[in-house]
Amino acid sequence: AGTALWGGRFASGPAPEMVELSRSTQFDWVLAPYDLAASRAHAQVLHRADLLTADELGRMQDALDRLARDVGEGTFAPVPQDEDVHSALERGLIERAGAELGGKLRAGRSRNDQVATLYRMYLRDHARRVGVLVTDLQAALLDQADAHPGAAMPGRTHFQHAQPVLLAHHLAAHAQALARDVDRIRDWERRAAVSPYGSGALAGSSLGLDPQFIAKELGLDRPVANSIDGTAARDFAAELAFVLAMLAVDLSRWAEEVVVFTTAEFGYARLDDAFSTGSSIMPQKKNPDIAELARGKSGRLIGNLAGLLATLKGLPLAYNRDLQEDKEPLIDSLSQLEVLLPAVTGMTATLTFDTARLADMAPAGYSLATDVAEWLVRQGVPFRVAHEAAGACVAVAEAGGRELDQLSDVELARIHPALTPQVRSVLTVAGSLASRDGVGGTAPVRVAEQLALLRSQVAAD
Ligand code: ARG
Repeated sequence: AGTALWGGRFASGPAPEMVELSRSTQFDWVLAPYDLAASRAHAQVLHRADLLTADELGRMQDALDRLARDVGEGTFAPVPQDEDVHSALERGLIERAGAELGGKLRAGRSRNDQVATLYRMYLRDHARRVGVLVTDLQAALLDQADAHPGAAMPGRTHFQHAQPVLLAHHLAAHAQALARDVDRIRDWERRAAVSPYGSGALAGSSLGLDPQFIAKELGLDRPVANSIDGTAARDFAAELAFVLAMLAVDLSRWAEEVVVFTTAEFGYARLDDAFSTGSSIMPQKKNPDIAELARGKSGRLIGNLAGLLATLKGLPLAYNRDLQEDKEPLIDSLSQLEVLLPAVTGMTATLTFDTARLADMAPAGYSLATDVAEWLVRQGVPFRVAHEAAGACVAVAEAGGRELDQLSDVELARIHPALTPQVRSVLTVAGSLASRDGVGGTAPVRVAEQLALLRSQVAAD
């Protein structure tokens, strides 16, 4: 039966086909450091319950230390007969501590409570790492915003020119979405910080062990309140899969803009050589591959979430082997983000914006028409009427191939008597921007406040 943990009642070992299907070491070996940490804590708990003598505890800890060192150095690794990370490490322990002592550690625990605990620990460590990488990207967006304090750009709705906005306001909008992603990771961490260790296979332990102690040793807040739930629940994994998919979707929205902004037609920004790629056939090409990979990988992360939810749907309590399928989607989502985020950050930090082009395009498409309407409202004209009048200004200007500020005083007065020459104060991009000074608006004063607040949040994260 190789190193299987369950040979007693079986007359024969498992078929090779069974072993092939069952093996999970190719992906769950990443849990080894957590398994070893939990084994150390478990040995102490067994000693406190008088199930290991002080001498046995000492020898057990020594063997676990040696095993941890060998795992770290790569001199101990799973063999094809090892079913999973837990079986492999028990084999390693027995090789070092002997069968008699090594065989004692399994008392009062099951791979079901082990894996549910270790997987939480792994996810917390990596989610925290992703959180730090997100704050790096936020910092890059804020640096770009700070570097272009007064730069205007066309703001869009329906992807059509809508109203001018500050480039810094637009970049900060992406930083705001990322701030919520970081907040979601933090919030998730709190819920994920429970330890099922001590739940056993599903019903708890009869050996007088101390789940509280293990939870504390492993840096988790407390033991689970229900051993069935502790071993069967995977909503912590599904929730993180959503948080990561949402993050990837947020990245994909910035990425899509980078793709569009760097085209010849837009010409809003240029990619740095180090963060773009060429074509093997077209010598002139400079491609936004990082942005495209960000866009593409978001699909993959959505798939990881959908796949995991489908695995969990309809599973009866408590542990079912289906649950082993919980690991690869999250390991994948996390490792994808761990390589994607630094690349997106580098691409963002090295983008060169063409502020002259952005400024030229900011008022294009009659994007100051709303300013005319709102100026009229401030003169006491009902918005319905003001909207009509501003629309008429656009129609007259468009018919003559002119801009709004090229309409004469006489033409303006003919459209509506309230349209005095003073309206010209909002017929500039700078005037339009400065007038949008309500909380959250694109006026330079408001944007400066927003950037300062974001900065301090990112520094605190
Ligand atoms: N490798 C399994 C998992 O990842 C844990 C083992 C539980 N297996 C079992 N037969 N009870 O979910």
